[in-house]
Amino acid sequence: MVSLEPCPGDLEAIEIASRDEISGLQLERMTWSLAHAYENSPFYRQRFDEAGVHPSDLKTLSDLAKFPFTTKTDLRDTYPFGMFAVPREKLARIHASSGTTGKPTVVGYTQKDIDTWATVVARSIRASGGRAGDLVHVAYGYGLFTGGLGAHYGAEKLGCTVVPISGGMTERQVTLIQDFKPRIIMVTPSYMLSILDEFRRQGVDPRESSLAVGIFGAEPWTNAMREEIEQAFDMHAVDIYGLSEVMGPGVANECVETKDGLHIWEDHFYPEIIDPETGAVLPDGERGELVFTTLTKEGLPIIRYRTRDLTRLLPGSARTMRRMEKVTGRSDDMIILRGVNVFPTQIEEQILKCRGLAPHFQIELTRADRMDKMIVHVECTDDAADDGARAGSAEELAHHIKSIVGVSTTIEVHTPGAVARSEGKAKRVVDKRLKQ
Ligand code: DLL
Repeated sequence: MVSLEPCPGDLEAIEIASRDEISGLQLERMTWSLAHAYENSPFYRQRFDEAGVHPSDLKTLSDLAKFPFTTKTDLRDTYPFGMFAVPREKLARIHASSGTTGKPTVVGYTQKDIDTWATVVARSIRASGGRAGDLVHVAYGYGLFTGGLGAHYGAEKLGCTVVPISGGMTERQVTLIQDFKPRIIMVTPSYMLSILDEFRRQGVDPRESSLAVGIFGAEPWTNAMREEIEQAFDMHAVDIYGLSEVMGPGVANECVETKDGLHIWEDHFYPEIIDPETGAVLPDGERGELVFTTLTKEGLPIIRYRTRDLTRLLPGSARTMRRMEKVTGRSDDMIILRGVNVFPTQIEEQILKCRGLAPHFQIELTRADRMDKMIVHVECTDDAADDGARAGSAEELAHHIKSIVGVSTTIEVHTPGAVARSEGKAKRVVDKRLKQ
């Protein structure tokens, strides 16, 4: 893998600004954002009034803690356009979450918001090692999901050539990678694994592909998975984070030269970490729930949005802006199995330690006689597919999970291709407990 360094001259001034400059800008912008939300969004006016706070109560950044939180339920309750702070006619674009339960959450952007979004995604691609002139293969889904179009506008803004292939049709993904020779791919890590399978199925060596950098996000993935993908493709695998309520992809991104957590683009998104139980703000370095306040967004300003993502804030490294540790799980992805908290990423880590197993997996939860049971469905690799090898792999994985994660599981090792593949975000957990 060729090591990649940024060109200092390419960075925006704010990316190398001092902490004082960043905080000064944040306070100025936060003052604007709170006032904008209060004056133009009836939802926020009511919320602030009920909480007895006014935008003028913000004198320092820490005063933000006086303001109420916003949750996904608030967006659902005001469906579709009830939280917007500009008339619908002023919106240039609408996106929405897929909404597996209940109504989707709808978000809107003014033209200026779209420009800001493209700027932070361009910055993210550059931090990942991309530059003007690169060919970028965008395999995030296009449509209401923010992944495809968010990546697309950012890549164009950086001066790249975009291939807007979207997700799906895996055979064609490989063909176009072979024919167009992109340097960069943007896709969910789980779908990248499906693309990897397809390379192998077609007898094409992935290490010989033109790909130099993958920008992976939209779902949790581990450093073990990073290593797996980097080895398989001889490429850099970099983490991109974001959520539609705050903007979309590009809220935070790793730098390719350090890969030590994701720099939050703090000039547009103000992070806090709170104790998910009490709502109290925690100091940097402590683990808790990530909360974001938008500093420049016009269409849908978001004040103290509870992401449910669990992480901690770390000081800047390759950039002065603070980092968030790789998100290993969401509070609502957490499985509580017989009293033990388990995240799917912990299972992923253990699978990647077993030589005879491929990194495709799904967790099934069942309940019999009031006892919860976890079944891990996973696949063997081609060279460990006989019954003996599969039984050995199952035993090895059960042992790792028991000794490191602390729960007993049943492992079912299937033949290659038997576990459902994702073309976007992977569905890691199938919870059948309530239905039984
Ligand atoms: O997933 C936006 C996105 C698209 C990000 C493409 C990165 C790349 P939503 O569909 O609203 O938006 O889902 C947001 O996905 O709260 C996290 O739980 C999860 N998520 C996103 N990026 C990461 C990541 C997009 N890098 C939710 N690591 C967030 C872990 C992530 N989880």
